Amino acid sequence: MSKSSNTVWHQATITRSNREQLNRHGSAILWFTGLSGSGKSTLAHAVEDELYRRGCRTTVLDGDNVRHGLCGDLGFSEIDRTENIRRIGQVATLFVDAGVIVLTAFISPFRIDRERVRMMVERAEDFIEIFCDCPLEVCEQRDVKGLYQRARKGEIADFTGISSPYEQPEKPDLVIDTGHQELSACVSEVISYLQQRKLIPAL
Ligand code: ADX
Repeated sequence: MSKSSNTVWHQATITRSNREQLNRHGSAILWFTGLSGSGKSTLAHAVEDELYRRGCRTTVLDGDNVRHGLCGDLGFSEIDRTENIRRIGQVATLFVDAGVIVLTAFISPFRIDRERVRMMVERAEDFIEIFCDCPLEVCEQRDVKGLYQRARKGEIADFTGISSPYEQPEKPDLVIDTGHQELSACVSEVISYLQQRKLIPAL
C-alpha cells in the first residue's frame, strides 16, 4: 500500500525511446531465475561482458549484492522474498526506462512474484524470463558457498530447494541448461535470443 499521497507524476521530456535510439539497442529486463548455485549470477555477468563488448548499456542486479544494501532489511521468509522481488522489479523498471538492458540474478522462487514484475513493465515483452535449469543435485554438489551443506544440517531455515519451495517457470522465454552446458554455450543462446528479438543488432 502506498503512503505517498499528494504526489504528482512528472512526465519526462526525454523518453525511453529517445534513449534507446541514442544507445542503438532496445532496453529490457533479462530476469534470470533458478536455484542457488544454478549459475544465474555467473551467466548474467558473462552475458553482460558480451553485451559490453558489443557497445550495449547494461547493469546487473544480483541477489547477494542487493541484499547488502537496498534489501538488507529482508530475510528469506515468503513475505520478505516477495518484497525483495517487488523492490528489484521496481528498480529494474527504472533501468528499462533509462534505456538500459538490466540483468537480474535472483532465485525469485515464487511464480506470482515474477509475474508481478512482468506486470510492472510497460510491455509484457520487456520482461524476459530466463530459467537457469540446473538440477538440485548438481547445485548441491557444487555448493560453492557451502550453504546447502549447512541447510541439510538444519543450520539455515527456509533454504530454497531444501526447506523452502522453488516454483519453476511454466512458460519461460528461455530455458538454459546451466547444469550441463559450458558457460560460453549458455551465453551464445542468450545473445542469439536477444538478436532474434531485435533488442540488439546482429554483428
Ligand atoms: S530470493 O529468494 O529472495 O530471490 P535472493 O536471490 O535474493 O533470494 O538471495 C539468494 C542468495 O541468498 C543465495 O544465493 C544464498 O547465497 C543466500 N541465502 C541465504 N539464505 C538463504 C535461504 N534461506 N534460501 C536461499 N538462499 C539463501
